[in-house]
Amino acid sequence: MEAIYLIGFMGSGKTTVSRELARRLNVAVYDTDEEIIKMKGKSINEIFAADGEAKFRLLESDVLRSIPSNDAVIATGGGIVGLEENRLYLKNKVNVVYLHAELENILERLKDDDSRPLLRKDKLQSAEVLYSKRLPLYRGAAGIEIGTSGKPITRIVDDIIQRM
Ligand code: S3P
Repeated sequence: MEAIYLIGFMGSGKTTVSRELARRLNVAVYDTDEEIIKMKGKSINEIFAADGEAKFRLLESDVLRSIPSNDAVIATGGGIVGLEENRLYLKNKVNVVYLHAELENILERLKDDDSRPLLRKDKLQSAEVLYSKRLPLYRGAAGIEIGTSGKPITRIVDDIIQRM
């Protein structure tokens, strides 16, 4: 089976959905953020603070290419579509699923979460800008779009399997 790539904004459920989807399909699961954390031995916040976002993006891009592209479900970081090289990479994959969540649901879900440097409380206004900027990039890169707002994980996973 060709790998299934889950893309979408921070807090749209990619990590949770990837685990359940991989369990249901009995394949491996990867998460680009987790791979980066393992590789660097630092949190995403620490990497952003020490090396900057541009360096993080290069790491993310390398990690995306290093993950097996068969028999796997791959949850990607919300900013993976920022680099054109990644958009092109994903365009060539058959199973790219955009998990679409409404921004208000995302902000509600992540209101007490400070693990995402681009979504800290002082950056909420820019989150709106980022969300609008990325929406067309996710849609352009994915062959399948699944709405996640208000749906339990099992339903989201059922929807993905049905659309494959
Ligand atoms: C980011 C999303 C995060 C993580 C980093 C940057 C982004 O991943 O890669 O904080 O730019 O949208 P999640 O989408 O898993 O939160």
